Amino acid sequence: MNSIFDHLIPRQGSLSLKHDGLQSTFGVSDAQAMWVADMDFSAPSAVSQALQLRAQHPIYGYSMVPESLYEALIDWMRVQHDWEIERDWIVLTPGVVPCLSTVVMALTNEKEGVIVQPPVYFPFLSIADNTGRTTLENPLVLRLDQFDNLRYEIDFDHFELCAKQAKILLLCSPHNPVGRVWHEDELARLLAIAKQHGLLILADEIHADLVYPDAKHLVLGKMDVDQAHVITAVAPSKTFNIPGLGLSALIVPHSPSRKAIELQLSKTGVSVANPFSLVAFEAAYRHGHYWLAGLMDYLQQTRDLVNTYFKQHIPQITVTPAEGTYLLWLDCRKLKLDDQQLQTFFIHQAKLALSPGALFGTGGRGFMRMNIATSQANILMALEKLKAALV
Ligand SMILES: Cc1ncc(COP(=O)(O)O)c(C=O)c1O
Repeated sequence: MNSIFDHLIPRQGSLSLKHDGLQSTFGVSDAQAMWVADMDFSAPSAVSQALQLRAQHPIYGYSMVPESLYEALIDWMRVQHDWEIERDWIVLTPGVVPCLSTVVMALTNEKEGVIVQPPVYFPFLSIADNTGRTTLENPLVLRLDQFDNLRYEIDFDHFELCAKQAKILLLCSPHNPVGRVWHEDELARLLAIAKQHGLLILADEIHADLVYPDAKHLVLGKMDVDQAHVITAVAPSKTFNIPGLGLSALIVPHSPSRKAIELQLSKTGVSVANPFSLVAFEAAYRHGHYWLAGLMDYLQQTRDLVNTYFKQHIPQITVTPAEGTYLLWLDCRKLKLDDQQLQTFFIHQAKLALSPGALFGTGGRGFMRMNIATSQANILMALEKLKAALV
């Protein structure tokens, strides 16, 4: 026990969706919660202190966005991602999911194609339907690498066919749930095809800061030299465990696209006036560097511990090697259970609440997504329960 991340505060009773929502989602309350993508760790103390300070002023009216918040994001992108962005490119939005459909509405026309790459974060799958556009699936391909590890790749030939019929790609980078951090050559190839066919890319980079040292996240927007093809969505929410506060940013260098997005936001009356989310956003980006370094050390140890444990004790299930995110994609196909049986096995026999792979669309069947952002003691307990249930 030598890390701040070993010490957890109980979340039960705090209206936590992950913990207190077990009964309504899984029909049980005694399973270990490893589903919703938030962490069991306290946010950086700089964030809590900034929130407490703001709470002391007892008037919680509509807030203005301070210039210092934009500066904090600009500095973060420069230091953490080597990308020099301009103040004018930033459009604040109340969360990444709401802004996905806003961008699609603003920059595409009815019935135009929206490419998604399943298995993928499930809200991506319904954006086209919800906005009167057409979903085009470009499923990821699952291969074995030279060490016999599972590895997801983009099917570029199929992507090019889709690009000819589509207006926008919703790119998940790093990818939830398969854990890939896309390489420079993969991103360059995507971008080249997009440019050739006049396709926009909305890069959801919400997991960009949660990358293990054996990989490197590259911001796609930085590679887009004409600054016309890529819109980037970022947020401190996953990185610093403040997703309930709901504030994110779109980075849109192309001025006509930005104006169209701003117009769309104004039509729906979306605003970012919550005083607490503004304060937390700025404090996290301004003061979070060291906390994040410690978090990634801890998560890396946890990821490695989980990989080793599965190899040694639960060989029936294969962990897809994660290059980023705290979400592990478990290949349970050897158990030969259908969706319902797999869910029943995890919930009722192993007493673990994971996200079912089928939720993530094509290619998700037979997989489960495990959230490892909890203490290593909790992780070991979960692994032991799973091992015992499989005997
Ligand atoms: C890829 C991705 N985008 C967006 C979100 C959610 O973003 P927000 O809470 O800002 O809507 C998640 C949450 O898991 C995610 O994994």
